Amino acid sequence: MKIDGTPYRSVWLDAEDRTCVHIFDQTKLPWSLVRLDLRHQDEVAHAIRTMQVRGAPLIGAVAVYGLVLALTRDPSNESLESNAAMLAATRPTAINLVWAIDRMLRHLRPLPPAARVEAAYMEAATICDEDVATNEAIGQHGLELIREIWSAKQARSGNSGAGRINVLTHCNAGWIATVDWGTALAPIYLAHDAGLPVHVWVDETRPRNQGALLTAWELGRHGVPHTLVADNAGGHLMQRRDVDLVIVGCDRVTRSGDVANKIGTYLKALAAFDNEVPFWVALPSTTIDWTLEDGVRDIPIEERSASEVLDVQGLGADGRPTSVRVAPDGTPAANPAFDVTPARLVSGLLTERGRCAASREALEAMFPERA
Ligand code: MRU
Repeated sequence: MKIDGTPYRSVWLDAEDRTCVHIFDQTKLPWSLVRLDLRHQDEVAHAIRTMQVRGAPLIGAVAVYGLVLALTRDPSNESLESNAAMLAATRPTAINLVWAIDRMLRHLRPLPPAARVEAAYMEAATICDEDVATNEAIGQHGLELIREIWSAKQARSGNSGAGRINVLTHCNAGWIATVDWGTALAPIYLAHDAGLPVHVWVDETRPRNQGALLTAWELGRHGVPHTLVADNAGGHLMQRRDVDLVIVGCDRVTRSGDVANKIGTYLKALAAFDNEVPFWVALPSTTIDWTLEDGVRDIPIEERSASEVLDVQGLGADGRPTSVRVAPDGTPAANPAFDVTPARLVSGLLTERGRCAASREALEAMFPERA
C-alpha cells in the first residue's frame, strides 16, 4: 500500500543493514506512523506480544524474521529450535504464526548451520512475497463476490438507483494486518478502485479498537467511504437492511470450517444469519488448521490483560495519546480476545484459490492435497 505516494509493506528488511527488520508500530496508529527497527529476536517477540504488530498473517511473517535475526547470531541446532519455540509461543490463537515457523524449521533443519542464515533470509522473503500474492488473489475473488451482490441489489431496485453497497467488517484485516493488501479489506480496496460504490460499516472492535484505530485509518487513506459504528450496532443495521454483506478476516479455521476471529465476530454472524445477510470470511490457506475439527472446543482463545477492557486508549485534549479508565476502580474484568463462529453460520470462505463453503468437504475439494 502507498503512504504519501511511497509503496510500503508492513514488514521489510532495511535496504542497507540486513540485520534490521522494520515494522510500523501499530500501537501508535492512527496518530503517528512510527517505524520500528528490530535487531534481536527478543525485540520481535516483544513486538508481537504487545501488538506493535498484529493480525494473523503479519505476526507469522514478522516472527519468521525474528528467527532470521536469531540465526545471524547463532545458527546452531539448539538456537534454531529454542528460538523457533519461543517465537511460536508469542500469541496462541492465530495459526499462521505456527505455520510460518514450522515452514522455516522444515526448510532449515536439514541444512548445515553455516548455510542456514542465507537460506533463512531467502525463505523469509518468499513467505512475505507469497502472502502478498495470496492476499491479492483473495481480493480478486472477493471483488467478484461484491460485484454479484451489487448486481443483485441493482436488479432488485429495478436499476432505479440502488445507492451503495454496504459492507460491514469487524476488527482489522487490512494491509497493516498482513504483509500487504489485507484479507477482508483486499476485496473492498479492489471494488473501490474498480468504481463500485462500496461503503464500509467499521465496527469499533472493543477492547483494543482495531476497527476504529486501524481499519478507519486504512480506509480513510485509501479514500474508501466508511462509517464507524459501535460494536453493538451491527444487528440493528442488518435488521434495517443497511448491510449487504459482512466480510471478516480470521485467525484460525478448522478443517470443518469453524472460524476463530476477533471477539464479537460470532455475534455479528448470528445477527447476519437471522437477517439473511451473507457472512463471508476471508483467509489465506495458511490460516487453516487441518489438525482441528471442532473450533469451539479446540481452538485456544487468547486471554489478554483486564486493563484492555478497563481502560480505553485515545487522544487526550493535549493531542497526545492517553488512556482513560471506564469502570469503577477495583472492577474485575475478563478479556477473551477471540471467539469462534461455527461453520453453520458462515456463508462462505474466500481463499486465494477461490470461494468455497465452510465445510470439510468444500475445503478438501479446494485443497485436495490436504484431504
Ligand atoms: O488481536 P489481533 O488484532 O491480532 O486480531 C486480529 C484479527 O482478529 C484479524 O481479524 C485477523 O487476524 C485477520 S488479519 C488479516
